Amino acid sequence: MKPLFIVLEGPDAAGKSTQLALLSRELSRRGIPVVVTREPGGTELGRALRGILLDPGRRIEPLAELFLLLADRRQHVEELIRPALEAGKWVISSRYTLSSVAYQGYGRGIPVDLVRELNAIATGGLEPDYTFLLDVPPEVALERTGTKDRFEAEGLAFRTRVRQAYLELIKGVPNGHVIDATGPPEEVCRRILELLPLA
Ligand code: TYD
Repeated sequence: MKPLFIVLEGPDAAGKSTQLALLSRELSRRGIPVVVTREPGGTELGRALRGILLDPGRRIEPLAELFLLLADRRQHVEELIRPALEAGKWVISSRYTLSSVAYQGYGRGIPVDLVRELNAIATGGLEPDYTFLLDVPPEVALERTGTKDRFEAEGLAFRTRVRQAYLELIKGVPNGHVIDATGPPEEVCRRILELLPLA
């Protein structure tokens, strides 16, 4: 079977890292070679960019923020995602192109068509095979968050905008699914596994 590229999306503190770990364990148990990664920060360059992007003491203009994320994404696709898929490994990434449409497009107000166009350039057209939107109400996400990075410091209005955008956007994503992420992590993982083409 062709190795799958799976993306987990959703607001901060939706539990994406927990699901990354659980899914990777379940797939490995089934003998599937899997690489887990995230954006921003899936490569060495990406980790440097992540430090800049999340620094709450930094002012970053919206388009500049998008370009930094796209630089991270380009490097990620070329250095890690594509080579892993070509080597027959499944890749699960926490966040990918849809994050930029939701946060930089709908959240920050950059024209959505421009974000999509730049995403396509950055990824060379590589699309996920499956996208799971881990959905939690913004209040829950806010509660789950401890110290706040530059994005988490945004208020409820920004978070609500991003969530609404995600819920609309996912409808147009091939193999895109909304997963209620308010329940126990094992339950959330089970729902995702049910939707994957596993033998
Ligand atoms: P992430 O590490 O996924 O944070 P969390 O685990 O809290 O969800 O992502 C860091 C922040 O980067 C997150 O607040 C959202 C933001 N982000 C964007 O705004 N656009 C993007 O394209 C990506 C990849 C991330």
